[in-house]
Amino acid sequence: MINQIWKHFQRPECGWDPVPEEYAERYAKREFSALDIALVDEVAAWAGGLNGKTLLDLGGGPGQYAIEFARRGARVHWHDISENYLKVYQREAGIGKLTTASTLGYMDDATGEYDVVFNRVCWYYCVSDGAFARKVVSLVRPGGAGYLIINTDRYLENAWQRMPPLQRLKQKLFYALNDRFSLKVGHIMPSHRKIERLFRAMPLQSLETGYRGEMTMVRFRR
Ligand SMILES: C[S@@+](CC[C@H](N)C(=O)[O-])C[C@H]1O[C@@H](n2cnc3c(N)ncnc32)[C@H](O)[C@@H]1O
Repeated sequence: MINQIWKHFQRPECGWDPVPEEYAERYAKREFSALDIALVDEVAAWAGGLNGKTLLDLGGGPGQYAIEFARRGARVHWHDISENYLKVYQREAGIGKLTTASTLGYMDDATGEYDVVFNRVCWYYCVSDGAFARKVVSLVRPGGAGYLIINTDRYLENAWQRMPPLQRLKQKLFYALNDRFSLKVGHIMPSHRKIERLFRAMPLQSLETGYRGEMTMVRFRR
């Protein structure tokens, strides 16, 4: 509810961008050089190959994964809220002479149906975990594949340890409110268990969940 109200006022189409240009460039530099090729291989294998497939990179950021998927023959659609990331993505894709499709907007409002939907380390920006899980599945065409890397409680345990006590207390309170009562205030990360429960409740052909380092991995076929 509170997140929904913020979303109403913070509109990317009116020039609102949560990511400063300087931060976008810094993140891009770091992430392009740290691209996880093993993850790209896993997504490709799970999708049964990428060549000719339509792929949505939801919350694609600077586009390091979108670009690698496109290099492997996917018809990539990048969707993100940040115009500053869009500029980086278009510049980098242009260097590789890749055709790009892109839309600016909230992940929660993405539309279309794709052979593959990819979402990496931005789940916590969604307005509501339950609605977003349903949205992600709806974006995959029947028979298509979803692949998600999500920050959850294993990631949070480490983050909490680095926080000053008062901030930690506040974060834990918001975490519990979201996890137990689905009252989400701000960009709170969900628990691994909640993510599993949300996807298990949906009619999917197959579903696998697990950990990838300190992140939760979810992959499914619709
Ligand atoms: C940590 S970055 C991850 C970017 C990219 N997926 C990656 O793997 O590096 C989080 C991304 O989420 C985007 N983002 C934040 N809030 C969003 C929202 N409500 N809807 C769409 N994208 C959002 C940011 O602009 C940023 O690109």
